[in-house]
Amino acid sequence: SLPVVLDVDTGVDDACALLLAALHPRLDLRAVTCVGGNAPLADVVRNTLTVLEAAGRDDVPVGVGAARPLLEEPVDARHVHGSDGMADLGMPSPRLRADPRPAVDLLRDTLEAAASAGAPVTVVPLAPMTNLALLARVHPDAFARIGRLVFMGGGVEISNATAAAEFNVFHDPEAAAIVLDACAGHGIPVTMYGLDVFSDPVVTDSEVEDLRRVGTPAARLAAGLVSFHHRRFASAGTTIGDAGAVAILLEPDAVRTERLPVRVELTGTWTRGRTVVDRRDWGGHLDHDPHGLAPALVHVALGIDGPRIAALWL
Ligand code: BDR
Ligand code: CA
Repeated sequence: SLPVVLDVDTGVDDACALLLAALHPRLDLRAVTCVGGNAPLADVVRNTLTVLEAAGRDDVPVGVGAARPLLEEPVDARHVHGSDGMADLGMPSPRLRADPRPAVDLLRDTLEAAASAGAPVTVVPLAPMTNLALLARVHPDAFARIGRLVFMGGGVEISNATAAAEFNVFHDPEAAAIVLDACAGHGIPVTMYGLDVFSDPVVTDSEVEDLRRVGTPAARLAAGLVSFHHRRFASAGTTIGDAGAVAILLEPDAVRTERLPVRVELTGTWTRGRTVVDRRDWGGHLDHDPHGLAPALVHVALGIDGPRIAALWL
């Protein structure tokens, strides 16, 4: 099975992603790191521990990471995810405790152990990439041992936090730029699972009821998460969001990507945090941008088989 680490700001859809990573037999969840994003850091940590406890995965270490972006003040998204950041389901406080190591140290240890064993980790950031940017700066040799990075963030045609930018990248644009640059420098392949595909894998009301009938703590939690979104957005179906970025590790054929130059807009009056994806015809010479620094080349998700990904998650 594939060794993975998730970096999360749990978050309703991060919780959906954690359940998949924690329970799928073809994924080997080695660690989870937390960052402030959808909710303040303490809430994110509690929510993450709650999910792992429901999944029966008290063996997975959880690292506490950055409370705030590198440069800006944090802005949360509790208006979307509920006042506790995870659907206000009234879950009891988890018994599990976070790992004593700070997130960057837990990442270092996990990446080094896996690489030494010959099975490098796929790192899946589903949140602002502050922890990964700090890793690149604090433990660059460990960062270099990432096998592959698949991040939820950005978008080519679609945005949500502002007219130009997606929430995770908007929340910490410098971090996203540092991570893309470090991956390019170390030759780490990167996939961008952005808003162009994010909303396509959808679970319906009747599927949620099937899930609830499974009756395990994990299934009940999953049903509660998804139906919260149904109620909040008064829709008959809802996206599994971040969980899609984990699902494509298992169903790579369900997503269509193109390898394209990507830069993160760090200034701009109305465009800070936008992922600028260069779709010009490069005539096969993608590595030779005559106008400025070489951009990171990223496998950008442009299309997805939503029903297949939703079915896998269910
Ligand atoms: C992203 O922002 C968060 O609210 C979600 O968890 C997802 O990671 C979507 O823009
Ligand atoms: Ca998230």
